[in-house]
Amino acid sequence: MLHALTSARLEFIVDDTSGGLEVVHLGSPIGRVEPATFSAPIPEGGIDRLAPISVLAEAAAGWMGKPGLRLHRDGTVVFPRLDPATVTSDGSSLRAVACDPATQVSVTFLATLHDAGVLELVVELRNDGAPLTVDEVLVSVPVPQASEVLQFGGRWSDEFHPTRHSWEWGTFVVENRSGRTSATRFPMMMAGTADFSEQSGTVTAIHLGWSGDGQVRADRLPDGRRILQAGEIFGAGEVVLDTGETHRSAPVFLAHSAAGLNGISDSFHGYVRARPTHVATERPVILNTWEAVYFAHDLNTLSALADRAAAVGVERFVLDDGWFLGRDDDRRALGDWVVDPAKWPAGLDPLIAHVRGLGMEFGLWVEPEMISPDSELFRAHPDWGLVDPHHDPVRARHQLVLDLTNPGAFEHIRQSLCSLLDDHDISYLKWDMNRDLVAPTDSTGRAAGQAQTRAVYRLIDEIKRTHPDIEIESCSSGGGRIDLGILTRTDRVWTSDCNDALDRIRIQRGASYLIPPELMGAHIGPNRAHTTGRTHTVAFRGATAMFGHLGIEWNLLAATDDELAAVERIVSMHKAHRALLHGGRTVRIDVEDEAVSAFVVVAPDQGEAIVSVSQIATSRGLPIGPIRIPGLDLDGTYWLEQLVLDERRLGLAKQQPAWLEGVEISGRQLAVAGLPMPILNPETALLLHLQRR
Ligand code: GLA
Repeated sequence: MLHALTSARLEFIVDDTSGGLEVVHLGSPIGRVEPATFSAPIPEGGIDRLAPISVLAEAAAGWMGKPGLRLHRDGTVVFPRLDPATVTSDGSSLRAVACDPATQVSVTFLATLHDAGVLELVVELRNDGAPLTVDEVLVSVPVPQASEVLQFGGRWSDEFHPTRHSWEWGTFVVENRSGRTSATRFPMMMAGTADFSEQSGTVTAIHLGWSGDGQVRADRLPDGRRILQAGEIFGAGEVVLDTGETHRSAPVFLAHSAAGLNGISDSFHGYVRARPTHVATERPVILNTWEAVYFAHDLNTLSALADRAAAVGVERFVLDDGWFLGRDDDRRALGDWVVDPAKWPAGLDPLIAHVRGLGMEFGLWVEPEMISPDSELFRAHPDWGLVDPHHDPVRARHQLVLDLTNPGAFEHIRQSLCSLLDDHDISYLKWDMNRDLVAPTDSTGRAAGQAQTRAVYRLIDEIKRTHPDIEIESCSSGGGRIDLGILTRTDRVWTSDCNDALDRIRIQRGASYLIPPELMGAHIGPNRAHTTGRTHTVAFRGATAMFGHLGIEWNLLAATDDELAAVERIVSMHKAHRALLHGGRTVRIDVEDEAVSAFVVVAPDQGEAIVSVSQIATSRGLPIGPIRIPGLDLDGTYWLEQLVLDERRLGLAKQQPAWLEGVEISGRQLAVAGLPMPILNPETALLLHLQRR
């Protein structure tokens, strides 16, 4: 029997008869389905049956690709072949239970189709036989029309690089073994029709909602069928189920669009925004102290910085790394979460009172999952590192990972965080995690990477449960831990340690495929970017940061009056348009000229929009062609005017377009004919405001 979950953009149809749960359709809704059309021919030259693409593809049924389950028991391989599933469904979610009496394994499939068109798949694997080792659980779905694959990689300070492949044959794999979500191997992949773009083409996206080791794969089988797969990666012998025990997989998220990548982000953003855990309040403008003062903390300087922050309109002051016991540099002290009496003789309260007195919230940086070998904590508990006991541990930034699977370590760190929050007027934690896991092993010698990630989730959940008003930012050396798993329990991500506006345009664009702007930390950094050495105007930095959760990460005490005035202008412009910027639809624009990057944020009722056009390099031809603006009300008429941040953005020209002075124009003209662009200097941005008449 067929079962369908249907939303406007995505339909998921499964067949319960063929064992496991065969996915017969994942794509745009198709309405009535004729089952006979799903039986594919079986070519000569292979085995006598064509194993279906099931949520858990079955090796025992003849599946020749990577199977959904890899299991063994006491040296014997276990190949489950599930009986037809018993399915219950209410139209938006589906629960299917299937078992294999021969191997005493049973599976519960949980599929939820969220209103925005995001399908969430979770698999529960139960063992009713002798202890069972689980090597792999991998979810599969078909992508029959896809002939190109898009994946995302990068590195510290340069996250979310898209890489595009033509997919004529074989497999693309993103395999992450860093113990955190990873900037280098981001767990998301898209597969679509040839030349899919921001605005057109059919695309399916898969994302693993998990903040540890995992894989996403695009596999084109020898018989021509194309699938996407995703699942966690377990350490050797890490997941063993005793009789009666169950393993629950991390969620796999799928989105589908017949209107290019914008449809994918529409689904993901819509889903994230509808979650009960999504931030409900206006996103306060932040000042973060990291690139302003680094480890050099003192009350007078930071109070003066807070004064300047408040004066330019900042609403939340976040004290970054450097405040705790002996933390004078990054070589020591992680784990000692008490205020450093040398830097803070009267504790943090005087600064907090000052910040609160200025009407700002106070936030604090922590890195709870770490332990420095040079720390009181390590001296007291040298066995609390999550390290391979047989070899010298590999350090990163001079630190080790704290073994949170050890109940003592977990409880110690939970209590330390609770004390900090109970003893101070803190409303925000920047929760950092600054190193990869290397051969993560608990004190008994067992692989513990998965258990560590689950313990991190438990720790954050505990802090949120006991301190429900605290907001938490997920940071991991910048954008190393951004995924829908961590975002179930956190309220902002630090998108990247790169505050260079030029690189940020691309980084934020890459992040925008998955996460909406209100969760994306974006800061106005110093004049000269610390990670690249490039220099940009305040206006360009502001025009880029404006489209995320805005912050400032710059020593404003060293800024000139003109610069302070520019920052104030940007902050107040952001606040004036904050509801639109954080609640609108982000539509990335296909622009032929690679020297230009453009997008528009459109209000849900299409009554208002802000267009951002950035000249990211020098264009070969000038002027650049008209830019067509999608997403607007085609039958509406708009008043269009520029939001002026900086006059210097306009380039050398005998004449610039007359519309720059403001014009009334139809949504249809903007979408179909577009707007001739002024000549812009490289590394500048043009912002346009549209208000429907
Ligand atoms: C990481 C973060 C930075 C900053 C430093 C502090 O690198 O990404 O934003 O918090 O740690 O040590």
